[in-house]
Order: sequence, then structure tokens, then C-alpha cells
Amino acid sequence: MEIREFELERIQSLYENRVEYNLSDSGVHPYNLRELLTATEREALLEVELGYGWTNGSVELRRSIAALYEGRDGDNVIVTNGSAEANFLLVMTLLQPGDEIIVFVPNYLQIWGWAKAIGVEVKEVALRAELGWQPDLDELRAALSSRTKMITVCTPNNPTGSLLTDETQAALVAIAAEADITLHADEVYKGAELDGRERRSFADLYDKAIVTNGLSKAMALPGLRIGWLVGQVDEIYGAWQRKDYTSITTSAVSEFVADIVLQPARRAEILERSRRILRANVELLSGWIDANADLFSCVLPQAGGMAFLRYNMPVNSSELVTRMRLERSILLLPGDVYGLDGHIRIGVGAPAGHLEAGLARLAEFVRAEIV
Ligand SMILES: Cc1ncc(COP(=O)(O)O)c(C=O)c1O
Repeated sequence: MEIREFELERIQSLYENRVEYNLSDSGVHPYNLRELLTATEREALLEVELGYGWTNGSVELRRSIAALYEGRDGDNVIVTNGSAEANFLLVMTLLQPGDEIIVFVPNYLQIWGWAKAIGVEVKEVALRAELGWQPDLDELRAALSSRTKMITVCTPNNPTGSLLTDETQAALVAIAAEADITLHADEVYKGAELDGRERRSFADLYDKAIVTNGLSKAMALPGLRIGWLVGQVDEIYGAWQRKDYTSITTSAVSEFVADIVLQPARRAEILERSRRILRANVELLSGWIDANADLFSCVLPQAGGMAFLRYNMPVNSSELVTRMRLERSILLLPGDVYGLDGHIRIGVGAPAGHLEAGLARLAEFVRAEIV
């Protein structure tokens, strides 16, 4: 089996810990355990037995996750190592060589990459900047065929930070229901909506939805490596069978912490912190874009920890990003990794001072070296 390099992750793995200004992250600046847990919780953490636990996730944690959705229980949930493992298990469970899927792009291209690797035909339907990053539903209908197994969407979106409108969500559900196919949503940025209205999960809108989520992005806890899938009982069982072959279980320490942070009051506090950081940073970014409007423009993000900037300079995005890294020690992601040259992705979840200094250096670089 051949698999295409996951360029986005490769660039980050190689360089994010080596630069002075890492503005390539998509989540919110992470907590440390001292900030996150009370003294009593930290004491309780010391008592956690470092066994295997449940291979589909502890009963308590699956119950806490199920409570985030309507009418679901622990059997509708499998706990995974990050939402990355959830996406992987989803592909391995629901798709076969020869199937077709429809992927909305731009997107985090993990499902796209795995599906192609196992011989699934991947059709792309564009989210359109001129429609506020909504899809043209006629294009979606035209892409459907009798072999289409699944439509997959990422909302809030990576890389644009856009949200599907309630109307688009309803329309996607209607289209998937009419075709009687699975609708998958990667919702790992959900809860980080800047307007404070958490959007409904596709799992609450459609029986045949399967949803990926986790603690890495809106919840600002990527180091726990906790994610999950929520779906129908037989699908979740299938994913569990495959998890026995991959990682067996998640970490007992992480599951313990995850169950604390998913209790409603604590989850609300964490999401409030995320939104506070993101709102301030998006305002900062917006001011910077106004000051550099001759070179950059952006449909500002509505959620999540990143913005997708369009630039007006005669340079390829990978070249621009490489030069910024080598000449000014700033890391961003090039639009090329999303198949959209002429753009760069910039993280807006970093501490404000870091973002401000990184943006100042970025403006100085392009004005001195590129334009
Ligand atoms: C949309 C999306 N899904 C999944 C992941 C994987 O994240 P994790 O495994 O940390 O939950 C990412 C990471 O950037 C992402 O952006």
C-alpha cells in the first residue's frame, strides 16, 4: 500500500519545535496540569492505577462523552488516541476499496489520504470563499453516485475557521438521508465558536451521522491524546475491533483527566477560556490585516484556532513559508498543503504577545524580501 506524505503534519513535525515563532498550530494554547486541575484532583491523579483499563474507553468516560449528544449512550462511543485515531478507525471500518466518498475541501486531509491509500475513490467538492466557505449544494448533488458511501465534512473548518450555517447543515442531512448514506463530521473545533453559540452536532441531526471529536483543539488539551467517535452501535463495535489491532487502549492517566474536563461546568469554563483567547487574537489579526491590506486579505474565522489568509504577492506559498522559516524563524503552513496556493494558514490560538510579535516579523519580512 502506498500512502501520500501528509504534508501538513510533516512540516509541523519537522519544524514546529525549532522556530522562534511557531504560528502553525490550529488549536488553542494548551494548559499544563497545574493550571487545569485543582489540588484535590492532582492528588487523586496520583492514585490512578496504570493498567490497561477498557479497550474502548472507560465506562465513565464513554458515559460523559455520550452525554454531549442527544439520545446516545456508552455503546455509541469509542475513545481513541486523538481524533486522528478516530478518523483512521472510521476509514478502516466503513470504507472498502472501490467505494466512493465525497470530501469537502479545503479540509484536514487525513481521511482523504487514508481513503486514497486503501483504494477508495475520493471526490472533492469545494467550500467556496465567495459563499463564506459554504458548499454549492448543486455541486454536491452532481458528485453523488450509486457508489457513494459517505460524505465527510470538517466543521468548524480546518483551515478556514468557517462554520457551516444551520441551513447548510440541514441541507447536508437531507441530501445524505435521501441517498441513504453516512454523513461524517470532524467536529474537533466545535465549542470554540467566537460568537459563543456552540453549533449542533451532526450526531444530533441524523441517525446515520458518525462524528469525530476530541480534546485537542477547542478544549486546548492535545497532549492528552484523547479523541472519540460517536455513531451507531454496530459501527462503533467495528471500530473497536480495529482498535484491538492498532493501539488497544488510550492512556489511563489521560482518561482520568478527560473525564474531569468533560463534566459540564468544567467543559464550559475551558471553552470560555478558549473563546476569550481566540476573540482577542482574531481582533489582533484583523487589525494587522487592515494595516497590511495591500498584501493580505481574509474571511475572518468564526471558530477554531486558525485563519486562512490570501496574499497578493508573486510567490508560491511553499516557497514563502520556507523562506520565512529560514530567514526569520517563523513557521506557518502554506496553502499548497491544502491544494490552495496563494494562501497561508496562521494559528490564532497562541498567547497574544507571541502572535503580535510573530505578525510584526512577518510583515517586516514580506516587505523587506518579497514585494
Ligand atoms: C480537523 C482535524 N481533525 C483531527 C485532527 C487530529 O487531531 P488530534 O489527533 O490531536 O485530536 C486535527 C489536527 O490538526 C484536525 O485539524
